[in-house]
Amino acid sequence: MARVLAIETSCDETAAAIVDDGHCVISDPVATQIDIHRKYGGVVPELASRNHIVDIVPVVQEALDQADTDWSEIDAIAVTRGPGLVGALLVGLQVAKSLAYAHNKPLVPVHHLAGHLHAVFLHRPGEPRPVGPNYPHVALAVSGGHTAVYYVEAPGRVIQIANTRDDAAGEAFDKVARMMGLGYPGGPIIERTARGGDDRAHRFTIPRFKSGALDFSFSGLKTAVLTKLKNYSGPTPLPEGQEEADLLASFQRSAVDQLVHRTVAAAKAHSVGDVVLAGGVACNGVLRDKMREALESDGVQLHVPRPRWCTDNAAMIAGSAGVEAGLRIGTGHTQEDRRMNAVASWRLDR
Ligand code: KG4
Ligand code: ZN
Repeated sequence: MARVLAIETSCDETAAAIVDDGHCVISDPVATQIDIHRKYGGVVPELASRNHIVDIVPVVQEALDQADTDWSEIDAIAVTRGPGLVGALLVGLQVAKSLAYAHNKPLVPVHHLAGHLHAVFLHRPGEPRPVGPNYPHVALAVSGGHTAVYYVEAPGRVIQIANTRDDAAGEAFDKVARMMGLGYPGGPIIERTARGGDDRAHRFTIPRFKSGALDFSFSGLKTAVLTKLKNYSGPTPLPEGQEEADLLASFQRSAVDQLVHRTVAAAKAHSVGDVVLAGGVACNGVLRDKMREALESDGVQLHVPRPRWCTDNAAMIAGSAGVEAGLRIGTGHTQEDRRMNAVASWRLDR
């Protein structure tokens, strides 16, 4: 059995977790910086780094306390090496390196998106192990920083089959919420405000690429919403009440339809029986429902992590480190671990 302690600081959540054998989550405290970034309408990188510095040591201690364990029982330390905000990544990496050195533990670097894709395998002690997706499968990683479809041949063997050509889907939710003065993060607020709205009130076209590529694009949709707002001539400066709900429901429908269309097409093209939906935007109930419906009608099963493990967390990082961590039990800290650097831009399949 490998017991891994992981640290995740790639964006605006300071997180640590202890996970056994790559799947059983013993503790996973998260210190969120949402309230700090809210007044700026998005993540301010410098503030993110500074607050990771303040929060990281208490959060790691909390992970140990909640798990009622200590360093003698930890087999390896995992850390998000990238991609992400470089200043934010460096805080987690330096703390992980120091702890690994001080306690003579192996240090296992993890790709943030590999973590998101792994979240579907996590469970709590005493709960049955989720019936994970079969290999090969298709995975959609959709968050504030990424929107990509992968063909996952085997654990750790991944090919990217589609990517966003501009904004990430979560970024589009955040920007539209900001344009409408709704606050940050936009995804959950838009989902809530759009309830009861007519999702056919406004028609937004879904971009298609001539080459037939399954790539995503969300900047046109964002601009289309902005144009609606500029041309709005109601009693208030911005749509309110039903009009607001209609606009947001139509925006959400268009974003969700694009995500579902590309993922279903990828699943068909690669003849897989399982699809994983992961990342912060996977919390969206409309996306979950529509994706499940569309895939099930093709006989494909959808796997989605629970919402806590869709948004950024360290349990997914500890879990993803599982096999490599297991192989390194007892090897202690190495010179290579000490030299490890953050990688702000890092493709999952390279
Ligand atoms: O995975 P995550 O926590 O961080 C990144 O790696 O980016 O994802 C955060 C993103 C934000 O853009 C947020 O607006 C979006 O996920 N999000 C949602 C929902 N909950 C979070 N988007 C749509 N609907 C939601 N319910
Ligand atoms: Zn993420």
